[in-house]
This record gives sequence, C-alpha cells and structure tokens, in this order.
Amino acid sequence: MNNLDDIISRIDPTRLPRHVAIIMDGNGRWANQLGRPRSDGHAEGVSAVHRAVEFSSDMGIEYLTLYAFSTENWNRPQEEVDTLMYLIGWAIERELPDLIRNNVKIRLVGDIPRIPEDARRRLLNAEKATSHCTGLTLLMCLSYSSRWEIAEAARRLATQAAEGVISTSDITEELISANLATAGVPDPDLLIRTGGEERISNFLLWQIAYSELYFTPVLWPDFQKENYAEAILDYQNRERRFGKTSAQVQQKDADLEPNI
Ligand code: IPE
Ligand code: IPE
Ligand code: MG
Repeated sequence: MNNLDDIISRIDPTRLPRHVAIIMDGNGRWANQLGRPRSDGHAEGVSAVHRAVEFSSDMGIEYLTLYAFSTENWNRPQEEVDTLMYLIGWAIERELPDLIRNNVKIRLVGDIPRIPEDARRRLLNAEKATSHCTGLTLLMCLSYSSRWEIAEAARRLATQAAEGVISTSDITEELISANLATAGVPDPDLLIRTGGEERISNFLLWQIAYSELYFTPVLWPDFQKENYAEAILDYQNRERRFGKTSAQVQQKDADLEPNI
C-alpha cells in the first residue's frame, strides 16, 4: 500500500467534509527558493489545482472553493497580474474537457467583470459548458474578497428595502447568506491554507463562522494529495461543538448511531 492509500484508508468516508475551501498560498516563495521567477510558481500552482480538484472529486467531496485571486491581488505589479490572468484563462481552457468528463461544475465567485476580456471569456465559457454537471461543484474565487461580497449584499438588500420589496425585519442571517456570492452553497466545513501564514486574507469571512481551520507550511505548488488527505484526517479528529458542550455533542452522535 502506498502512502496515499494508507492515509485514505484511515479516512472515514461517512464523515467527509461536504465543503472544503482552500487559500492556495506560497507560489512566489516556492519559485524564490529555486531562484526562479514568481510566474514559475504560479505555473506550477496550476498542477496543484489539478491534483486538489481530482482528489476532491475522487473522494466524493461536494464543494471545493479555491481562492485563486483576491481583490487585493490587483495591487501586485502589473506584470504579475497579467501573468496570473493569462495562466488562469489558459488553465481553465486546457482543463475543461477533463472537468466535463469528471462531471465537475464550475461556479465563478467574485467581481468577474473586472477580469480582462480574454481570461473572462474562457472562464465564462467553462462555467457554461459545465453547468449541467452534477458531481463536484468547484467554486473559483477570482477578484474576490469577503468584504467586497458583504458590501455587495448590503447594497442589494438596502436597495430592495428602499424600494419596498422587502422590509428591514426580513433581513435575517439566512437572507444575508442568500445574497452572498456563495448563495445556496453550505458553509465550508474545512478551510485549508497552505504557505505557512495563519491568516484569512479577506476570504469567506461570513461563511467560515464555524469552519475548522487547517494551516500547513507546505507551499501550494508542493501540495500533494497526501497533504490534502492528512488535512481531512485532522479534520475528522476534531469535535465540532457549534457552541454546545462536548457532552451534548456526544449525546447527539449516540442518538444518531443506528441501533443494530
Ligand atoms: C498564491 O501565492 C497565489 C496568489 C495569491 C495569486 P503567492 O503569489 O501569494 O505566493 P507567496 O505568498 O508570495 O509565496
Ligand atoms: C491570499 O494570498 C489570496 C490568494 C491565495 C488568492 P495572499 O498572498 O494574497 O495573502 P497575503 O497578502 O499574504 O495576506
Ligand atoms: Mg501569498
């Protein structure tokens, strides 16, 4: 048995996270360490995306959300932004036949009109071409930040209230969730950040209220299926209490056990 199979054999398939979100960080440092340009790190990062999607799909995870480009990343040197946009458009087009074959549905999340035309066209084409797929849903966060998303939702709800479509008392947590870019998607169970930083960098602030956080020093281009499987194992060893006591959670689990 190889190492990956060994780790997978220890994962409980009945307690998988439904939704995994990943902050894919460390491309630049990966390239730096090898004395190569940062763009090489981003190019290598595409292979890591391929592995993460394949692994999620094979494991039967329902939703995978990838932080590919933040609102703040627009402030990077123009040359790096151009490279990233080129790579994103190129990679999505190259991967599309494989994604369709594997029944992966793409959903774009973020300020998509801000993406340069060429990459945007390829992304929208992939979203359309996979709209019928019923396997893994892959949410691609591009030109995304959580504060942008929450401000957008606030503007929309305020407009509806001003127009009398809703009243202010209709604004519940559920209505706010339904007005975020991730509407209809369950909150992430597990959030992974590679690259060693232990921060959220404006990602899914509302949605991760009760997510399990997993930080790894592994740089994104080095992130293997083994690393992903280890993160899931770690997740399965945690007790999610959602504000309750450990005894309450364990009682509920015991109630759910089949009586055979
Ligand atoms: C993540 O890697 C990719 C993006 C943010 C687009 P970085 O480019 O942030 O790599 P580091 O953090 O500088 O190593
Ligand atoms: C977060 O990484 C954004 C993405 C992975 C797309 P950054 O590299 O931009 O985050 P900071 O600047 O280190 O917080
Ligand atoms: Mg970074």
